[in-house]
Amino acid sequence: MMNTTRPSEPPAKDWHDTAFDLTRGLAAYTGSPLIAGIANVIGKHPQADIGNAFNHKQVASKIWARQMLFEHLGPAYRHILVVGGWYGILSAMLFDDERFEIGRIVSSDIDPDVAIVAHALNRASSDRFEAITADMYEMDYASLGADLVINTSCEHIADLKAWLALLPGGTRVLLQSNDYFSEPTHISCVPDLDAFRAQAGLASEVFGGGLKTKNYTRFMLIGSV
Ligand SMILES: C[S@@+](CC[C@H](N)C(=O)[O-])C[C@H]1O[C@@H](n2cnc3c(N)ncnc32)[C@H](O)[C@@H]1O
Repeated sequence: MMNTTRPSEPPAKDWHDTAFDLTRGLAAYTGSPLIAGIANVIGKHPQADIGNAFNHKQVASKIWARQMLFEHLGPAYRHILVVGGWYGILSAMLFDDERFEIGRIVSSDIDPDVAIVAHALNRASSDRFEAITADMYEMDYASLGADLVINTSCEHIADLKAWLALLPGGTRVLLQSNDYFSEPTHISCVPDLDAFRAQAGLASEVFGGGLKTKNYTRFMLIGSV
């Protein structure tokens, strides 16, 4: 068999080593606890799909969520509950924004592999952050007592209205979905904002909008059940 490696070529460096070095450098340069958290995840949990969770489209949708939250519900929260919170990116971005005063964030997800990664990402806020493994349809929301519940994974759950019905009346919510029907794990996409409104059936709404990206539009509702 022909050897295609040229003798002068340096050995390929592992992708994770490079990403780890780079994110640690970026964290040192910027002083950002969030970027230090990403480096920590790459170093300790190389199997985590953090590049996908923190890609520019995911980041844009969460910057949008954070900004609209600030503008429409203000900066102060005693206890935020994020369901379907994956690796805890939104939690880290909320902690990272100095305009907010947040007592505590609990990020829950049905996938038992993600809590450990979310803890690694949010290491700098470990006194105010907890990641738990739970099915959002099985949680006792009254006893959790969150003053804001966030679900940016509405496209991933079978029955949005049935889930919202579990929350105590008057609970403030921020919801995101999208029209990215071609992604197989997206089982509840909506074609437009009005369809999302109908799917959610919120008792009151303070914000509703869409954010166009190259392949799909993300929709967001902020209001109360
Ligand atoms: C791909 S991720 C998040 C995508 C989303 N657009 C975002 O970044 O906010 C969707 C998450 O929802 C979680 N999930 C799906 N069904 C759930 C359920 N019934 N309870 C809790 N988490 C759930 C999955 O495990 C996954 O981590």
